[in-house]
Amino acid sequence: MMSLRFFLLLLFQLSVSGILAINNEDPTDKTMEDFSGYPIHAPIDYSFAAPNTLLSFLSVDSTALENQIDELSTFSDTPAPSVTRILYTEKDVLARRYVKNLMGLSGLSVREDAVGNIFGRWDGYEPDLAPVATGSHIDAIPYSGKYDGVVGVLGAIEAINVLKRSGFKPKRSLEVVLFTSEEPTRFGISCLGSRLLAGSKALAEALKTTVDAQNISFLEAARSAGYAKEQDDISSVFLKEGSYSAFLELHIEQGPILEAEGVSIGIVTAIAAPASLKVDFEGNGGHAGAVLMPNRNDAGLAAAELALDVEKHVLGSGSIDTVGTVGILELHPGAINSIPSKSHVEIDTRDIDEKRRNDVIEKIHQSATTIASKRGVRLSEFKIVNQDPPALSDKSVIEAMEATLKELNLTHKLMISRAYHDSLFMARVSPMGMLFIPCYKGYSHKPEEYASSHNIGNGVKVLALTLAKLSLNQ
Ligand SMILES: *[C@@H]1O[C@H](CO)[C@@H](O)[C@H](O)[C@H]1NC(C)=O
Ligand SMILES: *[C@@H]1O[C@H](CO)[C@@H](O)[C@H](O)[C@H]1NC(C)=O
Ligand SMILES: [Zn+2]
Repeated sequence: MMSLRFFLLLLFQLSVSGILAINNEDPTDKTMEDFSGYPIHAPIDYSFAAPNTLLSFLSVDSTALENQIDELSTFSDTPAPSVTRILYTEKDVLARRYVKNLMGLSGLSVREDAVGNIFGRWDGYEPDLAPVATGSHIDAIPYSGKYDGVVGVLGAIEAINVLKRSGFKPKRSLEVVLFTSEEPTRFGISCLGSRLLAGSKALAEALKTTVDAQNISFLEAARSAGYAKEQDDISSVFLKEGSYSAFLELHIEQGPILEAEGVSIGIVTAIAAPASLKVDFEGNGGHAGAVLMPNRNDAGLAAAELALDVEKHVLGSGSIDTVGTVGILELHPGAINSIPSKSHVEIDTRDIDEKRRNDVIEKIHQSATTIASKRGVRLSEFKIVNQDPPALSDKSVIEAMEATLKELNLTHKLMISRAYHDSLFMARVSPMGMLFIPCYKGYSHKPEEYASSHNIGNGVKVLALTLAKLSLNQ
């Protein structure tokens, strides 16, 4: 009987010779070899039994990447070093053109969907298998920096270049994705592109009537940027389940941990998901001097008490991962000598455990009801604006990253992403993973945002090698 070891060895040899055979048959290589007079692709033993062979071929062009990040940052509506790039504005359209051009120069075939998610594909030698995807966003909130999102788009294109230069041939196709509007700036909807890719029917419906602060409709804005041309229905954007075999996003940490601990790479194990709530109280108001304390129905104090209850319930969850913030508290009419007759509170609460976060929301709701009745005010609105489930990274993607980091001798740390990303939604339709690189003091969403060329280079290398591994998966 054939021993197991021998059988595995045989399998391994078959798969390597399969790759080499494909290499030899590539007509482009043949032409380029004829042209240059020497072999373009030295045969590479791309087995992970001997990963150092590929490792020595991996070189990131950090200078080119840095220049691209700088060039992209000039497509901005505010002066450098700040970046402001809002969905479907002229600068956004120019920045998209810049990225599509880079994709083309890297030999990717480029296509766009109805809302402007952009895809650049490098066909694998088994193009019928579901591709491995990677990407992020390039929109930037007002007066922010040039690395958030951008590192995961331009870095992904460079990762493809790294693999191409190394002579690697993907089995599954590799696809770079630029997601439309990760930031909620213009239409109040975060991760608009990835939410739609993940098949949000509610969003596709809502976008038919969504307008921005200038009363420009989403569809009108999309059309002005060259998208959503013929149809009002944008459900064509939805991805079928199984469209990708894996999705991986490279991003700056936007927190201080990696830099403070001197760790090269963060592997994200889970993305905490935000829920946001809007609450309104209405009382009778009145003159600040004339209405005596026992006769008041102070909507402002109801809001204040609710804010403190939010903190109490969050702390009471028993987990450090539960957070809650009252970021908006407005009083009407907002005069020093007038008892607030209306108050408006907006609450953001997040956790990596969905049930625990939803329990907190339920307690906040009970508090709002109790406070309203105790204070004789009306709870005129309690609205859950969004209540997204958290996402867990996929074990196979984490393991591929861990193996890569071991081969590259880079230190890493498993961590939770407390900010949301397009990966949160991609996890609904694909096994997902994310990797973080350190950024200066954790600064983000401001002009001081910075990631060193060295750290970006590390991130690109890890991305490239992990994509290579995932592309060879069955
Ligand atoms: C917004 O535009 C729509 C359609 O053009 C119009 O009917 C509506 O009155 C406008 N709303 C405001 C607040 O200007
Ligand atoms: C990683 O470290 C080991 C042992 O220190 C060394 O042999 C190997 O060459 C290093 N690999 C890389 C890619 O630097
Ligand atoms: Zn981002």
